[in-house]
Amino acid sequence: MKKQKILVAYGSKHGATAGIADEIGRTLDQDGFEAAVVPAADVRDVSGYDAVILGSSLYAGHWHRDALRCAHRNAEALAERPVWLFSSGPVDSSAEQHDIPPVRGVAKEMERLHVQGHVTFGGSITAGTPGRIARSLVRHGKGGDFRSPEQIQSWAHQVASEMRSRAEA
Ligand SMILES: Cc1cc2nc3c(=O)[nH]c(=O)nc-3n(C[C@H](O)[C@H](O)[C@H](O)COP(=O)(O)O)c2cc1C
Repeated sequence: MKKQKILVAYGSKHGATAGIADEIGRTLDQDGFEAAVVPAADVRDVSGYDAVILGSSLYAGHWHRDALRCAHRNAEALAERPVWLFSSGPVDSSAEQHDIPPVRGVAKEMERLHVQGHVTFGGSITAGTPGRIARSLVRHGKGGDFRSPEQIQSWAHQVASEMRSRAEA
């Protein structure tokens, strides 16, 4: 049987969310899907995909504009296929401990696109992260890489399992 294709699109300023998208893509590939991991700014047409996962890092309570623009540009085609969203941000272990609801703008997209689900993953700010605020956080011991491969893989397995159930229905 032909493999189902899943697009994993992401908005990322400094690469941390790109890493999460890669992890999701790898997991979906292992689960028998054909995943394409693509920066949200480069997504022009989602009609060739059976499902879409769109994610972004959070800055001051907002998604990266590349991800929001991708959602708007492809709204019609996205509403016609299963879509999952993810946010990445908290630079502490809170995202692993409990469900962190979407920020307001993302909640709005969830409704508009009738998405299947949303998850918030931990983010990352390390000594290599550019920017004044990031540098200051690291200097004050408030940085770290809080992306949990286990949490990301587990969520991706869940998406894979829901896609399989849909195919069987
Ligand atoms: C200036 C600044 C503002 C941030 N604002 C938020 C925020 O509002 N909520 C949140 O959860 N994380 C916030 N973060 C953390 C980032 O979302 C996190 O570092 C993320 O992993 C960055 O991903 P990226 O490298 O893909 O852009 C902020 C980080 C910086 C440097």
